[in-house]
Amino acid sequence: MNFQIEEILLELIQGDITDQKDIEAVVNAANAQLKIGGGVAGAIHRAAGPELEKACRNLAPINPGEAVITEAFQLPNQYVIHTLGPVYGRDKPEADILGRCYKNSLKLAAANRIKSIAFPAISTGAFGYPTEEAAEVSIRTVKEMASELKNIKIIRFVLYNKDDLRTFESQANKILTQ
Ligand code: APR
Repeated sequence: MNFQIEEILLELIQGDITDQKDIEAVVNAANAQLKIGGGVAGAIHRAAGPELEKACRNLAPINPGEAVITEAFQLPNQYVIHTLGPVYGRDKPEADILGRCYKNSLKLAAANRIKSIAFPAISTGAFGYPTEEAAEVSIRTVKEMASELKNIKIIRFVLYNKDDLRTFESQANKILTQ
């Protein structure tokens, strides 16, 4: 499902974050040490190859809400933006921190003149953030940031399963069309 926010096309799709061939920067739901890990981080590091972990060494550790950028190595993209989401129930206030993950990733993308960026649903896996709450924060943050993001033309949310896609679609419908 697609939405237009000012000059930006917002796309919501079901898929794998490592398979976004037409996108310049993919976002990694990273761990503080920027190491391989599981979930999105595992998939991104495996697809990018060991150079990615090497490139991350000098940038780690990062704090919840922060974002850093590297090359994408063997991935079909130019950049990986690594952000650390909040652990639900531990890193508070969660919504604030999750919002900063999206804000700081989008700011980094804009600063690097990136035109297209794909996000996974940060914090909704191992970090336990309920998908509906996370979807609301994610979509609201993109909406709030839209006017500041001059170079960015496409923002894509890549949801891993159909239920998560439906949840993001219903939040986007609520937030962007009413
Ligand atoms: N592509 C897109 N989405 C994916 C993929 C993938 N290849 N793999 C998993 N997901 C989905 C999950 O289903 C979940 O909805 O991404 C969302 C985020 O899940 P996690 O990767 O577990 O990220 P997060 O909850 O932010 O936890 C980060 O997990 O693997 C560790 O090292 C990582 O400590 C860090 C923590």
